Amino acid sequence: MRLLFVGDVVGRPGRHMVESYLPKLKRRLRPQVTIVNGENAASGKGITEKIYKNFLGNGAQVITLGNHAWGRNEIFSFINEEPNLIRPLNYPPGAPGKGQVSVNVNGQEFVVINALGRTFLDDVDCPFQALDKAVDQARERTPFVFVDFHGEATSEKQAMGWFLDGRASAVIGTHTHVQTADERILQNGTAYLTDVGMTGPYDGILGVEKEAVIEKFRTSLPAKFEVANGRSQLNGVFLELDHRTGKALKIHRIMINDDHPYYE
Ligand SMILES: [Fe+2]
Repeated sequence: MRLLFVGDVVGRPGRHMVESYLPKLKRRLRPQVTIVNGENAASGKGITEKIYKNFLGNGAQVITLGNHAWGRNEIFSFINEEPNLIRPLNYPPGAPGKGQVSVNVNGQEFVVINALGRTFLDDVDCPFQALDKAVDQARERTPFVFVDFHGEATSEKQAMGWFLDGRASAVIGTHTHVQTADERILQNGTAYLTDVGMTGPYDGILGVEKEAVIEKFRTSLPAKFEVANGRSQLNGVFLELDHRTGKALKIHRIMINDDHPYYE
């Protein structure tokens, strides 16, 4: 079972990279499941219905979110109707939408779960309790369980990786927008990467215009953050899972930018 996951798409530059490279990556890697984190897709915060549908048109099957899930008010009008758009599972009960989705891959169920870390982030329900339950329940039906764990702290993400080792097929981190080079398969077969990185501006600071961020650090005065222009990048990860056990066989980081060009 092959899976492609594209890291946090930021604004228009990120959406352009998805349009340009997702079809090429899909032709080359032939993933059976393609997932995109779209929580920063609308001007850096949130997602719109049009953007969500464009991602599906570009070849994504599932769109995950994060702490900016509610960044655009529009989401409340469509998240309940869109089966393949998921927000973090561990928002307190009553939040709109859902935290997981099952995709059918040649008659085989593939579960995608999104969860939000709590260290240096929003005060949501415990992600460890939520994933403990959700992953075990999913595994009663299928060995294929993918977790997008949206978190700030490396330690919390590593803890989640080891906590779910042997139960989830993969625990892949999102949110920090900087790809880490620690991709590995944990001892019991879970593919792990602390952060998959970001798809969007290459010359900004985490996707934001660098001048405004530098000014904010220099002066501590309020600053207006806009998505940066200029060169762009795409970050992602490709996984191969055992077709019987769901355990990871391969994990490859994907990084496309001017310093790491894409070759057909
Ligand atoms: Fe985030």
